[in-house]
Amino acid sequence: MAIIISSGLITIHTDHTTYQMKADELSTLLHTYYGPRIDDTDMSQLIVPRDRGFSGNPYEVGMFDKTYSFDTLPLELSAFGDGDYRITGFHAEDHLGARALRFRFREAKVLPGKYGLPGLPAVYAKESEAETLEVTLADEDAGLLVRLLYGVLPDCDVITRALIVENEGQNPVRLLKTASLSLDFLYGDFDLITFHGRHAMERKMERRSIAHSVHSVGSVRGMSSHHYNPFVILADKNTDETHGQCFGFSFLYSGEFLFEAEKDQADSTRVLMGIHPDDFTWDLQPGDSFAAPEVMMSMSGEGFGLLSRNFHRTIREHVIRGPWRDRRRPVLINNWEATYFNFNGQKLLEIADTAAACGLDLFVLDDGWFGKRNLDDSSLGDWVPNEEKLGMTLKELGERIREKGLMFGIWVEPEGFSTDSDLYRKHPDWATIVPGRKPDLSRHQLILDFTRKDVQDYILERLTSIIREGGISYIKWDLNRSICDKYSALLPVKRQGEFAHRYMLGVYRILEELLRSFPDLLIEGCCGGGGRFDAGMLYYTPQIWCSDNSDAVSRLVIQYGTSFGYPASAMGAHVSAVPNHQTGRTTPFKTRAVTAMSGTFGYELDITKMSGEEREEIRRQVGIYRELNSLVREGDYYRLSTPDDVCTVWENVSPDRTEALVSGVWHGVEANPPVFYVKPQGLIPDRTYAVSYLDGDSDKTAAVMSGAAIMAGGLPCRMPAMEYDSFLMKLAAV
Ligand code: GLA
Repeated sequence: MAIIISSGLITIHTDHTTYQMKADELSTLLHTYYGPRIDDTDMSQLIVPRDRGFSGNPYEVGMFDKTYSFDTLPLELSAFGDGDYRITGFHAEDHLGARALRFRFREAKVLPGKYGLPGLPAVYAKESEAETLEVTLADEDAGLLVRLLYGVLPDCDVITRALIVENEGQNPVRLLKTASLSLDFLYGDFDLITFHGRHAMERKMERRSIAHSVHSVGSVRGMSSHHYNPFVILADKNTDETHGQCFGFSFLYSGEFLFEAEKDQADSTRVLMGIHPDDFTWDLQPGDSFAAPEVMMSMSGEGFGLLSRNFHRTIREHVIRGPWRDRRRPVLINNWEATYFNFNGQKLLEIADTAAACGLDLFVLDDGWFGKRNLDDSSLGDWVPNEEKLGMTLKELGERIREKGLMFGIWVEPEGFSTDSDLYRKHPDWATIVPGRKPDLSRHQLILDFTRKDVQDYILERLTSIIREGGISYIKWDLNRSICDKYSALLPVKRQGEFAHRYMLGVYRILEELLRSFPDLLIEGCCGGGGRFDAGMLYYTPQIWCSDNSDAVSRLVIQYGTSFGYPASAMGAHVSAVPNHQTGRTTPFKTRAVTAMSGTFGYELDITKMSGEEREEIRRQVGIYRELNSLVREGDYYRLSTPDDVCTVWENVSPDRTEALVSGVWHGVEANPPVFYVKPQGLIPDRTYAVSYLDGDSDKTAAVMSGAAIMAGGLPCRMPAMEYDSFLMKLAAV
């Protein structure tokens, strides 16, 4: 049993971790432990009550006990206004205008399987794989009830947490902050690891000490954002890839979020994660309820590598859904960097012809096929194929592409809204514009008001009809600007603060309905590259275009950062032309393929212009990818070095551990350089492995060694023959 309730003590066990809470004599729900697996010992014994000045005491004990304070106790639900002066996760205003909450434990129960959340992404599992803990707390004066939901996946060492708020009183309540996660560490000296970035350079890892202040990352851009990712790690100071304790938190939400960490006066640390409160209010009328999205947490006692693999596995098996979860993803050709807006039907068919001859699976028609869009300044919203530009109907184009043996995919940006569009001329009130103000433009465009059901229905109708007409098997769902001027013509004044979250619910609804109508459809998420690279999106889109930066060397950094929280099978990665269009850098063709092969593989360049030799090379690369793809999609991922090393090396190991692929890219060349060694992991110690380089047409066997010898002794990486040289090393049990 994963969850044990014994009087007020509630203990959750996963295979290697334990999480515990306890309702005390005042019905305060204390958080007592999260760490390596222990037994059911009551860990509240570690709490040392002390009288700390200016940390007050609840009325019940205030006259005789100055040591009991909400300001110092570790709490399972931290709420504003009850004498807890740290960062708090739950803020609300009652009908008096007061912001003073005090939640008391009511009951706890265990439910079979994993809970779901209405209209929101959530980890899913079979009944045999998970259990749910539901803990109810109430503030009877405010008439508010909070159900804390914990989903426990013991095998994955993952616990999720979400909350449902219900107004069971007689008066309205306004929610101001509903952090899904509130977690207290009684003691510890932690580092915070976050993944920051910008458009075309996302998810760079950054590590800093948590000091006596509030550290936060978040987004108010209407999306999870390129700038800060909703995945963070808290780690002991000495934690590295293979040693030390660390905790990871991943928000299954693609909208605005806030993660905060504070080390308090007594050196305890509190972390919070949830919808960003700066851009959120929610009115709860009597009888109404509100669901806050879920946070997935995991803990590793063996460094970042294991923590990442826990998240990879959970996302691969319990977040990503549908047939594409277990299928080899198609190797695609995308025309964006090949043609940008400048194409016609003939050019597309030529690209498709060459792609088919090179053995690719899917042709993706990117931006510019609809309305009169020949630049990025018009037609978003007019989802009608431009038959003049295509020289044929979308139906015919789809048929001709399929005749070549390719699947047909298409780019859309359903949330974008051009002022130069028929739709805007007809429905200006469908734009997110504050009445009387000039809106902020970005890439010349506005945003469609996805909080509105009529807008959602219009988009659904358009997408459904395009998918049917074109025989579309794949959609790239893009969004190319941050969202501001948040206002909906249909929301009442006091509900305008609900815009950002309602918008996200609208996006999720359309994605869900599309998948219901077209269960085989493969949707690739995209938001100017990786502006919505989050676990929430992966519930709908099994893969996400990782970045608009397709430069192989930049990608090493981006994919390295991304790999901490997300599996390789989710990372959209393409081979593009050189000099690279974003950086101007030239890297060898082979290296671009090695880098892209560690994600969902594809090409984004004009292959019609490539030489016969290069096309032959593409055929070979596709062959390697097909052969090794199950390792990348289903295998375990190990970071063997970092992009700060002279050579970035990573490893994919098959689930049965008999095969591994070690990939490496050199950053620089030197004369007479030292040899660079890496230590592959995850092999079977007493099996023998043949180590060979997949190089040119011949596999050159480099060594035959036991798994134990390779893991302890390491392997030398083949020296570079040129700048940005790379290698693919295969380890196969013999
Ligand atoms: C975004 C995407 C690109 C491409 C363009 C088209 O930037 O990330 O891959 O689709 O839009 O406008």
